[in-house]
Amino acid sequence: MRLGILTGGGDAPGLNAVIRAATKAAILEYGWEMIGIKDGFDGLIFPERTMPLTLDAVRGLLPRGGTILGTTNRGNPFHYPVKVDGKVEFQDLSGRVIENIAALGLDGLIVIGGDGTLGIARDFMDKGVKLVGIPKTIDNDILATDVTFGFNTALTTAMEAIDKLHTTAESHHRVMILEVMGRYAGWIALEAGLAGGADIILIPEIPFEYACVFDKIRERNRRESKFSIVVVAEGAHARGEGMVFQQTTAPGHEKRLGGIGEHLARKITAALEVETRVTVLGHLQRGGSPTAFDRILGTRFGVAAIELIKEGAFGQMVCLKGRHVASVPLAEIAGQTKRVDPAGEMVRTAESLGICMGRPH
Ligand code: F6P
Repeated sequence: MRLGILTGGGDAPGLNAVIRAATKAAILEYGWEMIGIKDGFDGLIFPERTMPLTLDAVRGLLPRGGTILGTTNRGNPFHYPVKVDGKVEFQDLSGRVIENIAALGLDGLIVIGGDGTLGIARDFMDKGVKLVGIPKTIDNDILATDVTFGFNTALTTAMEAIDKLHTTAESHHRVMILEVMGRYAGWIALEAGLAGGADIILIPEIPFEYACVFDKIRERNRRESKFSIVVVAEGAHARGEGMVFQQTTAPGHEKRLGGIGEHLARKITAALEVETRVTVLGHLQRGGSPTAFDRILGTRFGVAAIELIKEGAFGQMVCLKGRHVASVPLAEIAGQTKRVDPAGEMVRTAESLGICMGRPH
């Protein structure tokens, strides 16, 4: 067997652990050949962007963040941005990808990605490409898996930031807002807020009321602790208002969220006359060495993908169900998102502790 492996979408800590594990299992267990495809599906549009993955090539990868294969979140071959006479137009290059899979002699493809990349994988599957998917994202928003690798590392980075903000917030009696990633899901904000002991957590799934946020800060200022820690997901928004997006979006890119922290700070300062500062954690959440949890999950997913291919179970995505690695049909999950349940146990736990979730409790 000759397999290709690619990483698509935003990077996430643990990608290299998956590449390493899949390569080692393919070579050591079955004597198969592995080809690394660079920069997501781009490497199949321009096939000179491939590299042989040998045992030597994957040595020392476990602690390394990022992906040795490179990635992109603007490389959808079905809708690919091409410059024609100085203008960007979108072309369907999927046929070229299929031709190059054949030219490279690939018997199967391992696609590691988030909802966007797995959606592209599903479309190729429908065109007869033999592939398996591995879910990846710091956002933890992929349906059918309890958790994605990368999430735990991002969460830990956000929690450590909250710990640091606590000490300076307390010294200066300030409101400290930490804006975290997560796109349209509030997993990072909710879990980092719980782990770091935030006073207010705002997530996209619960449109917040300014009055509830202000009341919580007032209540804390009346007591000994005259500071407040607010963790806000980039996709959170006030009831009746839309999400806040950044101004600049390059052609072929998804609109970028960001700015709700500053927006909220202006409202808090105007309403309460308290000193408020904003930290946007940004891509620090995506970088750095994966936690033990993400290294192990990535490793298990990488091996599980090879086992699926061994069984001929193409069209499946590996996932974690409870403590066990399992698989689900890609077609069942692609294009959908797993979001926080506003009535779920985790939100209720936060509210039981007196954490304000931006709604009356
Ligand atoms: O999906 C991962 C993620 O980091 C989101 O949390 C965030 O909204 C987005 O990607 C940022 O994308 P980019 O790296 O293109 O700015």
